[in-house]
Amino acid sequence: MTTYTVTLANRENAQYAVNDRRPLLEQLRKKGVDLPYGCEYGGCITCAAKLTDGKVDQRRQVALNNRQIDNGYVILCVARATCDITLEIGVESHGKLYRNPFLDPLEPHELKADIASPKGP
Ligand code: FES
Repeated sequence: MTTYTVTLANRENAQYAVNDRRPLLEQLRKKGVDLPYGCEYGGCITCAAKLTDGKVDQRRQVALNNRQIDNGYVILCVARATCDITLEIGVESHGKLYRNPFLDPLEPHELKADIASPKGP
């Protein structure tokens, strides 16, 4: 088991030690971090956070599309740290999570399924 440091950029850079075995949501909540969550199996997107540095293994998530992944979103209830990471957490990190179809309509070439492709850790 390897231990990494999670820095919460929008919580005054608070730091927590986490292991690579258990999901980040579970570990951070046990340390007293207040985080939104719902299903806890990677399907509802409630626990999304923005990864601003480092990498996670979130192969088990099914909630995010490729645009959201490209914008740095990770699903904390299934994601495991694979190195030291920095996150923005909570609903205030969700600014780019959803697309406003009135402000940012899809282009014709985007009118297709945007299903996330599995990626390695
Ligand atoms: S709590 Fe539902 S996707 Fe994480």
